[in-house]
Amino acid sequence: MNYSNTILVTGGAGFIGSHLVKLLIEKGEHVVVFDALTYAGHLENLVEVKGHPSFQFVKGDVSSKEDCAELFRQFNFNCIFHLAAESHVDRSIQGPLAFVHTNVLGTVHLLEEARKQGFDGHSKKLFFHVSTDEVFGTLGSDGKFSETTAYSPHSPYSASKASSDHFVRAYADTYDMPVMISNCSNNFGTHQFPEKLIPVVVNSLLNQKPIPVYGKGVNVRDWLWVEDHVQALYILWKEGKPGETYCIGGNNEWNNLDLVHLIIELFDELKGNALGTSTQLISFVTDRLGHDLRYAIDNSKITSETSWLPTVDFREKLKSTIQWYIENQEWVNSVTKP
Ligand SMILES: NC(=O)c1ccc[n+]([C@@H]2O[C@H](COP(=O)([O-])OP(=O)(O)OC[C@H]3O[C@@H](n4cnc5c(N)ncnc54)[C@H](O)[C@@H]3O)[C@@H](O)[C@H]2O)c1
Repeated sequence: MNYSNTILVTGGAGFIGSHLVKLLIEKGEHVVVFDALTYAGHLENLVEVKGHPSFQFVKGDVSSKEDCAELFRQFNFNCIFHLAAESHVDRSIQGPLAFVHTNVLGTVHLLEEARKQGFDGHSKKLFFHVSTDEVFGTLGSDGKFSETTAYSPHSPYSASKASSDHFVRAYADTYDMPVMISNCSNNFGTHQFPEKLIPVVVNSLLNQKPIPVYGKGVNVRDWLWVEDHVQALYILWKEGKPGETYCIGGNNEWNNLDLVHLIIELFDELKGNALGTSTQLISFVTDRLGHDLRYAIDNSKITSETSWLPTVDFREKLKSTIQWYIENQEWVNSVTKP
């Protein structure tokens, strides 16, 4: 379906949101970013589009009813990509309440404003909720998550995302709101806040500090390049069916320890170091509470119903990502300064 713009991107100053904003601007859309600029959100991530006539930034908090109401007073949206969230599992274990405020309450405030602004079955509008595969819980050594997998979240983060998914579906069923939900696997790429696994490992390598690996490093994740994820979101908006859920994944499973070894190998290649010289930095640390063993995505629905396909060269994309972090230490220092 083709919805004409204006588009709201919540969380557009974060990792995935900033990549999505750049893609939408490239496609000629008019984009409004709404972001609270928490520790994870930075205008440095949007320098390429700053000053562009089709780009506007509004600072605001999705968990504030007043901020959301004011935003919708200013703009009439045709599509909402909702990405604003507290997104780090470890932080959710330390302090779950912020996750309830932003991820649950914030989503409901946006749904309410969208409902009041005419997001209904007669409109050509769309509320696109960007969610995670973590809502499904954990897999054993085989099988994959799909759109019909029952929800079974284990961390406060995934419980808050699961709750927000349920609210989005409730608005579709109760108010006939045109919605779409995507449940995506782990993303990697440039501009990811340096608390997540890949930038943490690169920073440890650059500073010759211990590389923390949870437990025995056996947890498996399906890694997807962030540019592939935002392409999927764009294509789903254009080609997907309102009311549907789509699982997005890269068919690219790695256990944490093997992934850390690969990052070390690529880092050493880029730096011209003798291969494997940094493996002694690997340091096993106490496992994360409630750590899900394995996530994997069956992406056959999105790949059969739309033109989207994931990029297959993981090694090359990972290497260019590592290179970006090596060359952008100024960005790392800027976004992590207290
Ligand atoms: N990173 C992944 O691997 C991954 C995978 C699947 C789904 N997701 C989902 O994609 C979305 C984006 O993830 P990310 O990795 O880019 O997260 P991120 O932490 O990098 O960015 C989150 C953004 O939301 C903003 N934000 C946080 N609280 C806010 C609030 N109360 N009001 C307004 N803005 C607020 C932050 O300032 C930041 O810009 C999240 O909803 C996440 O659940 C992420």
